[in-house]
Amino acid sequence: MVALWALALTLAASRTAGCSPNIVLIFADDLGYGDLGAYGHPSSTTPNLDQLAAAGLRFTDFYVPVSLCTPSRAALLTGRLPVRMGLYPGVLGPGSLGGLPLEEVTLAEVLAARGYLTGMAGKWHLGVGPEGTFLPPNQGFHRFLGIPYSHDQGPCQNLTCFPPATPCEGICDQGLVPVPLLANLSVEVQPPWLPGLEARYLAFARDLMADAQRQGRPFFLYYASHHTHYPQFSGQSYAGRSGRGPFGDALMELDAAVGALVAAVQDLGLLRQTLVIFTADNGPETMRMSQGGCSGLLRCGKGTTFEGGVREPALAFWPGHITPGVTHELASSLDLLPTLAALAGAPLPNITLDGVDLSSVLLSTGKSPRQNMVFYPAYPDEVHGVFAVRSGKYKAHFFTQGSAHSDTTADPACHASSPLTAHEPPLLFDLSEDPSENYNLLSSEAEVTPEALEAMKQLQLLKAQFDASVTFGPSQMARGEDPALQMCCDLGCSPWPTCCLCPEPPP
Ligand SMILES: *[C@@H]1O[C@H](CO)[C@@H](O)[C@H](O)[C@H]1NC(C)=O
Ligand SMILES: *[C@@H]1O[C@H](CO)[C@@H](O)[C@H](O)[C@H]1NC(C)=O
Repeated sequence: MVALWALALTLAASRTAGCSPNIVLIFADDLGYGDLGAYGHPSSTTPNLDQLAAAGLRFTDFYVPVSLCTPSRAALLTGRLPVRMGLYPGVLGPGSLGGLPLEEVTLAEVLAARGYLTGMAGKWHLGVGPEGTFLPPNQGFHRFLGIPYSHDQGPCQNLTCFPPATPCEGICDQGLVPVPLLANLSVEVQPPWLPGLEARYLAFARDLMADAQRQGRPFFLYYASHHTHYPQFSGQSYAGRSGRGPFGDALMELDAAVGALVAAVQDLGLLRQTLVIFTADNGPETMRMSQGGCSGLLRCGKGTTFEGGVREPALAFWPGHITPGVTHELASSLDLLPTLAALAGAPLPNITLDGVDLSSVLLSTGKSPRQNMVFYPAYPDEVHGVFAVRSGKYKAHFFTQGSAHSDTTADPACHASSPLTAHEPPLLFDLSEDPSENYNLLSSEAEVTPEALEAMKQLQLLKAQFDASVTFGPSQMARGEDPALQMCCDLGCSPWPTCCLCPEPPP
């Protein structure tokens, strides 16, 4: 009898796995915890995201492990800490020899093996390499349309915003090729007209969804928007329309893209078969002042291990499966690979994962299996290990360091001028009573409670155990740069790199 029941359960489980949901994973860039209307921003115009939050699950305690583009994207796509795969220190450049190692198993590879049609639109930033070795088509994506790194990693004076002939704000990185837009492994235009990108990406997304439906297979769309990274840009319908300046206009365009993606799913009649997830790579780049984002009530932003750098808005929407509401469970971008693999019925890669399966949180069947979260700085090393650890409601900072990305905020601890500082005892915060990390429970002025001392000991032990268990992979960034690896639409042209210009006709 027992054996029969077990068999029946196994059959039921495999039948559930058979209806693998479509997945739309939307990833914003440099977007803070306080930027969306649904997270309390008073003047953002984000009706579509707010609607997703109202009709889906809104996370209050969702984290990325590193508050910087390249490592955060690596964590998202592999479920592993970036130090394990050598994605440190800092970010990859257009001519980097390194990239996301091909032996890493990406979410796209996991889902493609399960029969998904996989596509990516937008910002990659996990390496180009010789012959485009590290680009999405070699990392599990059947289709790719996008820019291989940040759109400020090239001269901005070559980029135009809205109206068509207006130069974008700032000069960005000089001495590099203009940013290319790639279709799979080849340059489509260089540089693209930024305010036209969203329309191109949406057309790509609609084709992917429709083609997958025609082929009778599920799809995985990774939509990595360039919004709201500096320099800000937006199309005609948004420029000057948001009420929150150029940042708000860019965010409004991102919000409209989210609405268009959901509408595309709905048009195909696939709403109940499609899980839509929205989050972002790291906190706001406050060095851009009002043209950077906003971490709301959280401390500091991009480049730091304070909450404003690592805690992100996160939404999950899946009508008929996810009950609308708010969850305070601990969750991370690291958890998406194991969670989506479980929902898709795909086996996990045989490799050390740092993420856990959160399907119980999504489907309201249980608590988060995640108890702790570790945070690495933008420039990690094995001597210092993790800078901060959260367990339950407590977070300890063993080291802190400011970052230029978090300049101009009112708190000098966020700024580049704030050096690497060891804290012994650590700074300890109760994030439920003090999410802004204002009141160190172990400061000399505080009345230190036995509970705080106990929490400190537990977090010290967690750090020691964790650091001892992690092996850093050889640094991909240390492999260096070869400027000749930058993608150019006109190979052999001169004077290089400015001659790499194949712009699209003006709209
Ligand atoms: C990339 O390659 C795939 C497979 O050959 C193709 O279907 C797709 O149209 C190509 N272009 C883009 C932008 O994905
Ligand atoms: C998983 O990897 C380990 C070590 O690389 C290997 O010994 C083991 O056989 C693998 N297991 C499976 C199921 O492939």
